[in-house]
Amino acid sequence: MDESLLRVITTLNRIAETSLVWPQGLLHPGGPHRRLKGHHDPISIGEDECAALGRMVAALRPAHAFIIGNAFGFSSSYIADVMQRNGGKSVISLDDHSEGDGQRAAAIARELSLSLGLDNILKNKRGVSPADIAKSVEQKLYDLILIDGQHRHPQVTRDFQGVLPYSSAQTVVVFHDSWLSGVAGAVSEAKRAGFRCLWLPTSCEMILATRSPERFEQLCAIFPEGGEDRGSRSRALGYLLYAQQSVAFHFGRVFAR
Ligand SMILES: C[S@@+](CC[C@H](N)C(=O)[O-])C[C@H]1O[C@@H](n2cnc3c(N)ncnc32)[C@H](O)[C@@H]1O
Repeated sequence: MDESLLRVITTLNRIAETSLVWPQGLLHPGGPHRRLKGHHDPISIGEDECAALGRMVAALRPAHAFIIGNAFGFSSSYIADVMQRNGGKSVISLDDHSEGDGQRAAAIARELSLSLGLDNILKNKRGVSPADIAKSVEQKLYDLILIDGQHRHPQVTRDFQGVLPYSSAQTVVVFHDSWLSGVAGAVSEAKRAGFRCLWLPTSCEMILATRSPERFEQLCAIFPEGGEDRGSRSRALGYLLYAQQSVAFHFGRVFAR
């Protein structure tokens, strides 16, 4: 586990009670993911996915990052912490507090960022994507954009279209949960817009998309385990495992009463 991940997990554990989701990963070895104890949503990205993003940040050294979907701040704090150690300048997250106890999640995200000393680099903003993207951005262009908000079609495509004006040819757009059909639709839209898409076999699968052929080759070198996305994977297993975890969560609550 890298230094930033250890810091984020240790600090989060001091601030809030969380439970682990998919301890071994959802579709591929990896995970665990996290949720606030007693709440089904939101669910964070997996530790293995943080590590993959950390590897990319260390190699590409992005100056500015924009994140849609912050929840309790797990991915934003991790990305900001790694960026701070690698010459990064700013990270903005945008979240509408719509999932689970959104207010509490946002308060935890704020405390996590402050406790980690990330307040100089990370700003967590409240707003709805894509409507509030324009008033949330503080840069003309972002080097790294993570899309991890609401995952249903056409929201992810709208999120992607919303951030497109703030991307350069070199920008890497990361789609989390690329096995979900709503995300796959947005990835198809990215391809139509000239992006090449590298699929990564992380717990919930991620796609790294860029318009620059050189950047794409760099990504392939950083992630030899990945492959260019062909967009035709079976989603049945993902939906089954997701449903299984949902049923277990709700049964757990009934029996806990
Ligand atoms: C999967 S969670 C994000 C997890 C986070 N990236 C992490 O790994 O720590 C999705 C988040 O997106 C937020 N969200 C959903 N729809 C949104 C929208 N249209 N605009 C902004 N945020 C949204 C939810 O409130 C929720 O906190």
